Amino acid sequence: MKKPINQYTDYGTPASSSTEQVTLEIDGTSISVPAGSSIMHAAVAAGVSVPKLCATDSLEPFGSCRLCLVEIEGRRGYPASCTTPVAEGLKVKTQTPKLADIRRGVMELYISDHPLDCLTCATNGDCELQDMAGAVGLREVRYGYDGENHLQSEKDTSNPYFQFDPSKCIVCSRCVRACEEVQGTFALTIQGRGFESKVASGVTDFMDSECVSCGACVQACPTATLIEKSVVQHGVPDYSITTTCAYCGVGCSFDAQMKGEQVVRMIPSKHGGANHGHSCVKGRFAWGYATHKDRITTPMIRKSIHDAWQQVSWDEAIAYAASEISRINQQYGKASIGGITSSRCTNEEVYVTQKLIRAVLGTNNIDTCARVCHSPTGYGLKQTLGESAGTQTFDSVMHSDVIFVIGANPTDGHPVFGSQMKRRLREGAKLIVADPRQIDLVQSPHIRSDYHLKLRPGTNVALISAISHVIVTEGLVKEDFVRERCEWDSFEMWRDFAAKPENSPEALSEELGVPAEDLRAAARLYATGGNAAIYYGLGVTEHSQGSTMVMGIANIAMATGNVGREGVGVNPLRGQNNVQGSCDMGSMPHEFTGYRHVSDDATRALFEAAWGRPLSADPGLRIPNMLDAAIEGKFKALYCIGEDIAQSDPNTQHVTHALESMECVIVQDLFLNETAKFAHVFFPGASFLEKSGTFTNAERRISPVRRVMTPKNGMEDWEITAKLSTALGYPMQYGHASDILDEIAALTPTFRGVSFKKLDELGSVQWPCDDEHPTGTPIMHIDEFVRGKGKFFITQYVPTTEKVNGRYPLLLTTGRILSQYNVGAQTRRTDNVAWHKEDVLEIHPHDAEDRGIQEGDWVGISSRAGETVMRALITERVQPGVVYTTFHHPESGANVITTENSDWATNCPEFKVTAVQVNKVSQISDWQRNFKRFTEQQVNFVEQASKPANVS
Ligand code: SF4
Ligand code: SF4
Ligand code: SF4
Ligand code: FES
Repeated sequence: MKKPINQYTDYGTPASSSTEQVTLEIDGTSISVPAGSSIMHAAVAAGVSVPKLCATDSLEPFGSCRLCLVEIEGRRGYPASCTTPVAEGLKVKTQTPKLADIRRGVMELYISDHPLDCLTCATNGDCELQDMAGAVGLREVRYGYDGENHLQSEKDTSNPYFQFDPSKCIVCSRCVRACEEVQGTFALTIQGRGFESKVASGVTDFMDSECVSCGACVQACPTATLIEKSVVQHGVPDYSITTTCAYCGVGCSFDAQMKGEQVVRMIPSKHGGANHGHSCVKGRFAWGYATHKDRITTPMIRKSIHDAWQQVSWDEAIAYAASEISRINQQYGKASIGGITSSRCTNEEVYVTQKLIRAVLGTNNIDTCARVCHSPTGYGLKQTLGESAGTQTFDSVMHSDVIFVIGANPTDGHPVFGSQMKRRLREGAKLIVADPRQIDLVQSPHIRSDYHLKLRPGTNVALISAISHVIVTEGLVKEDFVRERCEWDSFEMWRDFAAKPENSPEALSEELGVPAEDLRAAARLYATGGNAAIYYGLGVTEHSQGSTMVMGIANIAMATGNVGREGVGVNPLRGQNNVQGSCDMGSMPHEFTGYRHVSDDATRALFEAAWGRPLSADPGLRIPNMLDAAIEGKFKALYCIGEDIAQSDPNTQHVTHALESMECVIVQDLFLNETAKFAHVFFPGASFLEKSGTFTNAERRISPVRRVMTPKNGMEDWEITAKLSTALGYPMQYGHASDILDEIAALTPTFRGVSFKKLDELGSVQWPCDDEHPTGTPIMHIDEFVRGKGKFFITQYVPTTEKVNGRYPLLLTTGRILSQYNVGAQTRRTDNVAWHKEDVLEIHPHDAEDRGIQEGDWVGISSRAGETVMRALITERVQPGVVYTTFHHPESGANVITTENSDWATNCPEFKVTAVQVNKVSQISDWQRNFKRFTEQQVNFVEQASKPANVS
């Protein structure tokens, strides 16, 4: 679906949402628009185009350029149509000789201080200033260029993705307002007055400012002042195709603006249900990995991981993989084989992979990377509310009065939603943050949390117990809601449990490291502050009591009536783009699509009839079980698609030992990732730009992924899986990803109404989407919970066994940063490394001083699992006794030190709590030395495979 590029589809100002209609006349045409609309908006509705420069529909009206002036009968002067509201009976003229004169005069002034290099300008033909000069009929510029001007102003090219050329700036302030209103970063300002006024960022340049490189200012700029370097390089794009970002769980919609097979730029779509035209640095700019030289595009095979790779044709690779799987099946049985999918896969890829494992290999040994992130969400929300998914839309936050963020860092992990949340906070919503670390939301421009509950890592359930205690003992329960909507018996049990003195803030304060009065105040605010919404992340789930905490969160939401309407709810912020989808698609060993248990006879019969193969009623192995079984010699073959368990899973040595123990590891990916270093078959995958399918974001929104370029590896990922299946004797006959989605819809009640056709029509849709909800379900559990009555669970706090002691006196917790994504395989291969070249260890000044550590020193971090070395970053963002790092770079080995402790219900690893010691060191760790050696060897093996046969 190629669409023409049309930059200027905006309306001048946002339309008012008022239901009251006002009728007025624009150039003789009568038009009715919502009260509160601007005259410019009414003019657009009447089909009249008013020249403008400083207005754009993504920003509040500003009224600075004086180009949109109009005449209003009975009023003096020439008001700006962008800032003047409509009124009943107004008679407006937008085109008169006088207005034309004024507009030409204004444009003449702009152009007299603008370089007339249109022919060689990168935005020639795509420039609002140029368009407006034409629209107002400017034919000459009477003022010369020899007077004072800005034409020699110096360019700022510091940002890797866009440049700032002040000689072209018309000081319309759209960039400044975009940074404030849309992004909420306040990195730009207009400095000086009159002729001296100019846009300023930071002390010297963009890279030296607070700028987070979201690109909102670039998109807002009506001239070539702020422009993508990719447009400078490739020129103005020819057409666009709408697709969905492949990074985080926000699921932003983008127009890939193309020139042939070349992506020129990614413009966030104004029609994107999750992002409404905004993006972050990853989605907008970090797509260069798709054409990075490291990409492997030819299939490879080898007998042993100590052999060089051999490049082969697709047919040979598929045949070899199939023969190895068949051999292992015969030799060791089907229980020795399994698959792992990734949240980077589309729904359709996940679906065909789990189908291959279940129907073709006859085992339920299929798992997904949600195992190591949000599996407790699936479990906890299913138990309490009846559905393994978040309850709201992102837009719902605009109706929240209290926002409770627990163990999430939205401005880094879910940046576009973080910006939306900040907008609501600037409007006055209250904020409670529960996090051991001072995330940006705690204090940033115009935002300050009301309570920052700086709990010790590992004590989440104690926190929810203390909050529950206040709710039940201070009469804050919404009893009507609970009686009508929930199982009363379960509520009574929970209430009696929560009311116990040992669950009081006073009793738990010391364990938590949070003052009891803050706990009480935060609980009161959550329960009584109006619409209260909880947003949580991996800081909740990646614990030994992850599932308990999710249930605890659902408990307090139900007890306070904060479920089932706008502005409230329980909202897991899913890490990767398709975590929700990969779980929905039956990629867990115990569930088919739509979270139906494999032991359910009716469900199995449905799939057996559709797939024509008998299916196992026994849940299969989870990822950690597969790894343990491999070490025990019982698990021999793994099909791993899009996931890099050797970097992302805890206790790296254990994972790599397990991989080494297998006889056939098949990796399907873009790059030789850490897991692929242990592989015997490498299927090169396609990037999101090269394939079709769907992703499902954190709000259950299914969005289309559309192919914008030819797959460099020759085929889309679902086709590879289908070919493997066919080679294993079970032909999979799909012509397009849409056929797979149709099969999913036919077999999954919550997806019944979903199709590519519907996505083309609606843009995206939130499941459940069925006959009852043909356009989807933005908010769940409105009249009743999916399970009928909501169920409360007792959430007894059980301290983790991972404890500090004299040998390991600090607690390590891990997280992400804005510019990198997950294991970094994609973002490390883009200019995003400008912001994060390596993982560092954040350590509090006191802990650093105790150890004689200076900023930038190499420090050894040792735990019960292993040891690694990173540079130290001394900061008060972490509290004394707590250290923090990220896991975006494989050589930093963050997961070498995390342990195998995991959630009691789901085996989600306890990434967030590791007892460690930190010491100044002068050299890298043994693990890192071995890692380096092994990586060099494996890269050589690939390079040797790339050489023509007669050379090698
Ligand atoms: S940089 Fe662009 S958006 Fe910003 S003031 Fe200048 S012309 Fe306007
Ligand atoms: S890129 Fe984003 S954060 Fe940076 S100045 Fe522009 S709007 Fe602000
Ligand atoms: S990474 Fe997330 S927030 Fe950023 S553009 Fe992509 S989906 Fe949107
Ligand atoms: S567009 Fe109205 S004053 Fe600039």
